[in-house]
Amino acid sequence: MLKVRKKLVIGNWKMNGCLERNASLLAELRLMGSSERVEVVVCPPFPYVSQAKEILAGSAVSVGAQNLSSFKDGAYTGDVSGSMLLDLGCSLVIVGHSERRSVFGETDHVVATKVALALELGLKPILCVGETLAQREAGEAEAVVQAQLDGVLAVVGAALASDVVVAYEPVWAIGTGRTATPDQAEVMHAFIRAHLERSGVAAQKVKILYGGSVTAANAPLLFVKPDIDGALVGGASLVAESFSLICAAAAAI
Ligand code: PGA
Repeated sequence: MLKVRKKLVIGNWKMNGCLERNASLLAELRLMGSSERVEVVVCPPFPYVSQAKEILAGSAVSVGAQNLSSFKDGAYTGDVSGSMLLDLGCSLVIVGHSERRSVFGETDHVVATKVALALELGLKPILCVGETLAQREAGEAEAVVQAQLDGVLAVVGAALASDVVVAYEPVWAIGTGRTATPDQAEVMHAFIRAHLERSGVAAQKVKILYGGSVTAANAPLLFVKPDIDGALVGGASLVAESFSLICAAAAAI
């Protein structure tokens, strides 16, 4: 029998927070009950990873990071390596978020290098892919996402790629309040899974998360779709109540 993929909900705090505000948010998240059906992770900015680890110790919520260096170690001022994240107790790392690609100029090659490094270290990479509004309107959404996946597959190979979590985040839905409809998202998730399968990846094992204006209201509608295995949540992860409701929606499926 096919094993059901456990849902995964990740909070991406982006560059938000301070010690005091984090402490109250984390104290509320600590209270979240554990569930067999969903794994919950928060990704604070680097300086707050240890604070999050400390406050969430013994709780059902784990801690990840938003980025890692494409280098292993050495003279790379300002960078943070994957092994440092492991050392701090991070279980996963977001790679290739559209803000990294568009604001910081990360190419598919840099993203692929980071995914490979994370895998080598045993840090689960959350590979973000997604098209812009102009690309969607030009009918290029699937080709863009496929090229982003292929860039990574070419470097890490199909066998290791089954350990990657993919997050489909249409750029036009991030922070805009404009979510992809559950049907639009499911079509792309099914396309991603089919493409991974065609490429020789054990695609039924791969979690594919949706990201882009996920809220407590739309999460249940997204989570019922067969190829949507959870969410990468930005804005709503900064509010304990909405993030907890999104996690509860995932656990209820
Ligand atoms: P959002 O961000 O939920 O605020 O749209 C999602 C993301 O960028 O990961």
